[in-house]
Parts: sequence; C-alpha cells; structure tokens
Amino acid sequence: MSSELSRRNVLFGAFGLAGLAAMSACGSTSAVSPPAGSVRQADALRRRSGQHVVTANLTPRPTTVDLGGPVVNTWAYGDTVPGPLLRARAGDLMRVQVDNQLPATTSVHWHGIALRNSMDGVPGMTQAPIGAGKPFTYEFTVPDPGTYFYHPHSGLQLDRGLHGALLVDDPADPGGYDVEWTVVLDDWVDGTGRTPEGVLKELTSSRGGGAGSGKGMDGMGMGSGKGKGMISPLLGGAGDIAYPHYLANGRVPAAPVTLTAKSGQRAKLRLINAGSDTAFRVALGGHRLTITHSDGFPVAPVTTDALLIGMGERYDVLITVGDGVFPLVALAEGKQGNALALVRSAAGTPPKTSVRPAELAKKVILSTDLTAADSVRLKTKDVDRSHDLLLSGSMTPYRWTINSKTFPDTDTLPVEEGQRVRLRFQNMSMMFHPMHVHGHTFGLVGGGARKDTVIVRPMQTVQVDLDANNPGQWATHCHNIYHAETGMMTTLSYPS
Ligand code: C2O
Ligand code: CU
Repeated sequence: MSSELSRRNVLFGAFGLAGLAAMSACGSTSAVSPPAGSVRQADALRRRSGQHVVTANLTPRPTTVDLGGPVVNTWAYGDTVPGPLLRARAGDLMRVQVDNQLPATTSVHWHGIALRNSMDGVPGMTQAPIGAGKPFTYEFTVPDPGTYFYHPHSGLQLDRGLHGALLVDDPADPGGYDVEWTVVLDDWVDGTGRTPEGVLKELTSSRGGGAGSGKGMDGMGMGSGKGKGMISPLLGGAGDIAYPHYLANGRVPAAPVTLTAKSGQRAKLRLINAGSDTAFRVALGGHRLTITHSDGFPVAPVTTDALLIGMGERYDVLITVGDGVFPLVALAEGKQGNALALVRSAAGTPPKTSVRPAELAKKVILSTDLTAADSVRLKTKDVDRSHDLLLSGSMTPYRWTINSKTFPDTDTLPVEEGQRVRLRFQNMSMMFHPMHVHGHTFGLVGGGARKDTVIVRPMQTVQVDLDANNPGQWATHCHNIYHAETGMMTTLSYPS
C-alpha cells in the first residue's frame, strides 16, 4: 500500500481512545449493572435439576507459538492457537475457570451464546475486568446447540492468539455425517515485529502508518471513494489492515493442517472466522458446499461453490468427500493472501500454498442470502420497538460511529422484556461492517437466517428482528475489532 493510502488513516480514533480510557476507568464501578433480579429469573428457566456440568480451564498468558514456520511471541490460552476446543451439550452448565496470567486485565466473551448477562464477559458492562494475575470463574447454561467461539472482550486482545472454538452439541442431532472438522480462520500480525496495539497506533497516528512497516494501512471506509486499496466487488471496502499471515487452525498455508476422511464419506465442516479485520471467501477445490447452519442455527440447506464469512460469523457445511487431496482455501476477501487447510482421502501431492480453486470465482453465498429453517424461524409478531443504527465514520477525527457517536457515548438501544425488537443497520460508509448482538439470536427480516452476526455491506440496510427475552446490558457492535475499539459499539439495554 502506498503512503498516500496510509495517510488516509490520520487521526484514527482520537475520540474513541479517550472514550475507551473512560470505559475501563469505570470498569469496576457503576457501569457494571446487569439487572440482577430479572437476570436471575431468566436464568432459572434455563437451569434443570441434575444438569450436567462441563468444567474447563483457560489460562491466558504470554507464550511462543509456531505457526508452521513463523514463530511468534503472543498471548494465547495455554500454548496453542486456537485455544482449547470447548464442548458441551445443549442444556449443560459450563464452569470455566480463567486464570489470568497476562500482564493485563482480560475477560472472556462466549460469542453467540444466549447466556445469563452477568457471564457475558464485557468489562465495564457486565463485569469488572479480570485483573492481571487474578482468577475468575464463568458459570452459565448453554441453551442452544451450535458452533460458537470464545475470546476476550478487552481492547484488541482478540487480534492476538486469544480465541477458541466452543461447540454445543444437540442431544437430538440426527447426525447425517461420518466425520467432523472444525476450522478456525484468523488474520495474524502479532509477534511479526508488530502488535495489534502497534497497528492501531499506526492507524491513529497523524503520521499515518509511519510507525512499523507502514505497509498495508488502508482506511477505505470513509465514503470518499478516493481509496483504491483493499476493495472487494462483494464487500466494497474490505478492511483496514493487510496482515502478513492468514491462518487456518493456527497454521500458515506453507504448513497446513490436514482434515482426513475416506473417499465418499460425508463431512461436517464447522467454520469460524476469528479474524479481526478480514472476511474470508471459502471454497474446497473440486467440491460443492452444502450450508446447513449459520451462527449455530439451522438454515434451509443451500448448496454453493463458495461462501463469504465475516468476522464473528460461523457456518456449518456438509461435504461429500472426493478421492484425493483437495485445498480448502479461505481467501482474504479484497486483500492479498489466503489461509489453507488440506482435505485428504488418498495419497497425492498437496496443491501449492497459493492455489485458487475455480470454485472461489463461482457462486458465493453470503448469510443475507440464507433462509431460516422452519424450526427456528421467528414467529410472526408485530414489532414493538424499532431502533435505527446508522453506521458511519469520519476522516477527522478518524473514528467509527453508530448514529454519529462513539462508544461509550453512543445512545443505548432501550428494550423491554417481551418485546419484539427491530434493529435497522444502515451502512452509510464504503466499508463493510459485521454487526454483532450479544445474548440474542436475531432473525433477518423476511424469514432470513437466525444469526448473531451479519455483514452489512457498504450503503446497504439490513433489518433484523429479535425477541427481547434475555434481560441485561448487551454489547452490540461491529466485529471488526478495530472499529469496535474506536467507537462502533452500543448497548442493547433492558431496564435495571
Ligand atoms: Cu465476538 Cu462482542 O463479540
Ligand atoms: Cu465496522
């Protein structure tokens, strides 16, 4: 990227950073206010006597990780990226002890889970931050089956190695597949001579990316139309950061993980985008993908050549495995580079790391193209309460906004228990925003997929409905972690 493009990032978040300082300052005081009585009541409905308990430990700490060539100093849960895979059955009680060995405060957010508000892991909103060297135990019922993940909700920690898959099995799952694979996609910069905090500094610096390598900074998001950096025909502005690496299950393409099956077997592939600034276009060479779930919830199955997965989104996909070795490619949409895993059912030479299967350029499904399965479609009901969220930003100061304000100064979204609530995400910028609502699964208006994260493309409006049935204070934000960090966040707020 040219320095001209870099200059477009001038003054990123001058406002938002001040706001964040304010947020963490009040982290342990009055801002922590889930309405205790109604939260307890709602949670009692999820609990069963004799509930099965799943216990786990997470140890966020500084460590050294081999990404399959590049060896990086980073922060991870234990010593692996992604962190340990957590697994429960719907209805189970999860008890996860977090032992914070980071030199910083942290938190764990259980992305997509409709859990009790006080366990949602948002410092300053639902809990006090977990101090450096301190423990914290999360305990919550997981009500719905599906593919989820966990990550800190503290600054830019997600863009280090701090994330892992959380799978919730359905005791009534008919199966219909022989093998199961989980693939976590990620965009990686930490420990390559830069850190996420350094990248944000480059973005916010008035020198416009003068720090560090200065490469890859492109703020194509302001609607000026001047940028010619990371642009995608599908997404418009496709991100702010050109990462040095894109990973599948913590591996660079030169040292890919291998997913094995027998030829002719049916495989269930769970895809999770744990990236911070990258949407991925995913295809498996020589195969078609049948999408069965989006963000954990079933959809009317659709067969496609490729799919687009935004940050925070998940897809479950069924594949009938062919005979040989095949590249599972996740193209960094609008950027240069890809993540890679191999699907193998027979001996054979692996494809090149930069392989581009023809499927990538054929039919590409976005989650807005999907329809909810009948079993999870929202019941028809009048909307009791509507909220407009105008998604935008400005050049000076450089900041990402909801209704022209940056968190924590954004207007909250008041809702009351029992209401049908409509959120209208109106993207007024030339950058895409994967919008995420905590504690609820919304339905795209008109019978679309049940989801918790949805890509809103440049100048697009996406309307979603949800049933306000989970009292508390729920973060609602862009899952581009750099956008969230510099302001694009608000609160779905029940009365306390
Ligand atoms: Cu995965 Cu508030 O986010
Ligand atoms: Cu955004």
